Amino acid sequence: MFALIVHGGAGQWHEERLPRAIEGVERALDVGISILAHEGSAIDAVEQAVMVLEDDPAFDAGTGSYANTDGDVEMDAIIADGSTGRFGAVAAIRNLRHPISVARKVMEDTPHCLLAGEGATRYAHANGFDFISNELLIGDATHPAHDTVGAVALDARGHIAVATSTGGTRAKMPGRVGDSPIFGAGAYADAACGVSATGVGEYIMRVLLAKFVADGIARGLTPDVAAQGGIAHLANIQGSGGVITIDRDGRVGKHFNTLAMPFAYVDGRGQRNVGS
Ligand code: GLY
Repeated sequence: MFALIVHGGAGQWHEERLPRAIEGVERALDVGISILAHEGSAIDAVEQAVMVLEDDPAFDAGTGSYANTDGDVEMDAIIADGSTGRFGAVAAIRNLRHPISVARKVMEDTPHCLLAGEGATRYAHANGFDFISNELLIGDATHPAHDTVGAVALDARGHIAVATSTGGTRAKMPGRVGDSPIFGAGAYADAACGVSATGVGEYIMRVLLAKFVADGIARGLTPDVAAQGGIAHLANIQGSGGVITIDRDGRVGKHFNTLAMPFAYVDGRGQRNVGS
């Protein structure tokens, strides 16, 4: 049994942009499924799925990111392995095609959890990651606000992993870091479930949204009910966004309180669903 869910960001999507976004999340889902169906690992599946979304300018992550008020793209990403309890993250990293892969390298090959700013960018350079110009990273600033991509997977060995990547919010201050690279806020994974969050980071951080949803699952809620509870909790402080989650039984949950959140998943029973 395996399961995978991906999303392309909760926000005020224009109706006419949704078909393209749904195509994008389906493409990412299929790449992840091709790994999981061949007994690949959850961590490989979420990394590869998010790399597809980072390369797609329809989404605010990697290519397609919002620029800050200086005109520079600064990106955040996190990857977490529920089977080991480890995570790696980067914050305010520049000129990287795949911030999620740098986050994985931080997790696997450094004694640290989170590298930020120039140090993160230098680390990526020293380790041969694909660099890309600021101009190519910048997305269409006329997009209505929507943000962040994410993926959660359960593999055949029962391991859960999660990945979240973002260009952050439109016209943010230089140096601003959102919820995405904060473990428990933008992502969380343990042996029982994985959660990825999207939305306005300044609110998500205050409620540790991903951990809040995971705590609901730990108390016995289904992933869907826990996701609804998380978004209600976020809404209590006027926050908006969405979450995706999978538990160790391959049950999928998703919820959002924005206009749309393109998503695609296959659950542990092999049921496939795509929507926004
Ligand atoms: N949720 C992404 C951010 O606020 O940066």
